[in-house]
Amino acid sequence: MSEQDTKTSSIWGGRFSEGPSAVMEEINASIGFDWRLFAQDIRASKAHARMLGAQGIITPDDSQAIISGLDKVEAEINAGTFTFSRALEDIHMNVEHRLTELIGATAGRLHTARSRNDQVATDFKLWVRDALDGIDAGLKQLQEVLLDLAQAQAATILPGFTHLQSAQPISLGHYLLAYVEMLGRDRSRATDCRKRLNECPLGSAALAGTSFPIDREMTAKELGFDRPTANSLDSVSDRDFAMEYLSVLSITAVHLSRMAEEIVIWTSEPFGFMRLSDDFSTGSSIMPQKRNPDAAELIRGKSGRVFGALIGILTVMKGLPLAYGKDMQEDKEPVFDATDTLELSIAAMSAMFKGATFNGERMKAVAAKGFTTATDLADWLVKELNLPFRDAHHATGALVKIAEEKGVGLEDLSIDDMQSVNPEIGKAVFDVLGVENSTKSRTSLGGTAPSGVLEQCKLARKKYL
Ligand code: ARG
Repeated sequence: MSEQDTKTSSIWGGRFSEGPSAVMEEINASIGFDWRLFAQDIRASKAHARMLGAQGIITPDDSQAIISGLDKVEAEINAGTFTFSRALEDIHMNVEHRLTELIGATAGRLHTARSRNDQVATDFKLWVRDALDGIDAGLKQLQEVLLDLAQAQAATILPGFTHLQSAQPISLGHYLLAYVEMLGRDRSRATDCRKRLNECPLGSAALAGTSFPIDREMTAKELGFDRPTANSLDSVSDRDFAMEYLSVLSITAVHLSRMAEEIVIWTSEPFGFMRLSDDFSTGSSIMPQKRNPDAAELIRGKSGRVFGALIGILTVMKGLPLAYGKDMQEDKEPVFDATDTLELSIAAMSAMFKGATFNGERMKAVAAKGFTTATDLADWLVKELNLPFRDAHHATGALVKIAEEKGVGLEDLSIDDMQSVNPEIGKAVFDVLGVENSTKSRTSLGGTAPSGVLEQCKLARKKYL
């Protein structure tokens, strides 16, 4: 090899007499992060080599040599004996270079009828597809934790809030099922994204397709895609799947952040509804009494990273003319980082809920404060005494005033107190007062009655697990 050959890139250096400057090499290289595509890259290359052989574009022997060589490369990467080189830019060139070392010049036939542009689009789609499956599995597990808890806590009373003001008593199980539904929508968004993503760009080559008689149906099928993509230009310039993936992750991160916020509030001393297990609490270096919910706070905080990834990729893509531009190499880090972040957040959320305990006494006491069953009383007056709701509202207001003056709850008023406001009120009114009675009475579809919550648990199990 002449001196010049060693300075220029062995892959595309044919027309260059100088190698890249150190800064150029640094800004150009993606191997520092896209090594994570190695399994997908090798899988797609094997499918391509098999197709080239089947179509007679390369000989069956060459096809076989390439496939076995790629298996060896993969084994080396898995074993940690592979040396990644920044001079070789990215995962695609690193793999091909090692293949050349292993099987010689035949390796050079692998890139027939292919470009790194369709190669990276295919690899990345395969990666995102796997990641979607992983996120879905994590969310399913979290749903299961919440469902188990919801079933166990169906009859536990919790103050339900609007505006973070006590509104009406509800079932803790009902509350937890609300999250199960949120996560269910996240999973269905992931399913949609997967469906739309599942077309194979391989064979689009650089941008215009190829003159070789390739079989795109064959590679699409082998790689588990539903079909090949329809337009080669679109194929190499499309990153919608990454943007959509990060949108799905962002909405999920919003949900996790809301759940985390709830944990922060509920575990606080003034609330005291929930207690995290020791292995999910952190202490303070100065205040010995502290049990901080750091994991919940971090989940809340990390949602910002996921949103940042989405904004990042949208911004990278928004000004790009067709077809491929090197800007698009900036698509991977946000996707990798958001995936790692969300997977960890989901795992931490599952573990926190699994180990948590709830203070039912405390929640019930708070739920009873602030005349939270006033609506039940008004509804009773409408149903039993046939009062117009406005009049019932007024009468209830008068009773709340009496209870307030006496410093008791509505359920503690005497029948005389009740009849001083409306003489027709009978003892049966006490059946709807008190937080338990109130909760039990809300039997409408999707409502908070413990009986309904148990029914909803059953349905959710069937639907989601
Ligand atoms: N590392 C590149 C990327 O991630 C691969 C595609 C390179 N294509 C090219 N025409 N330079 O986008």
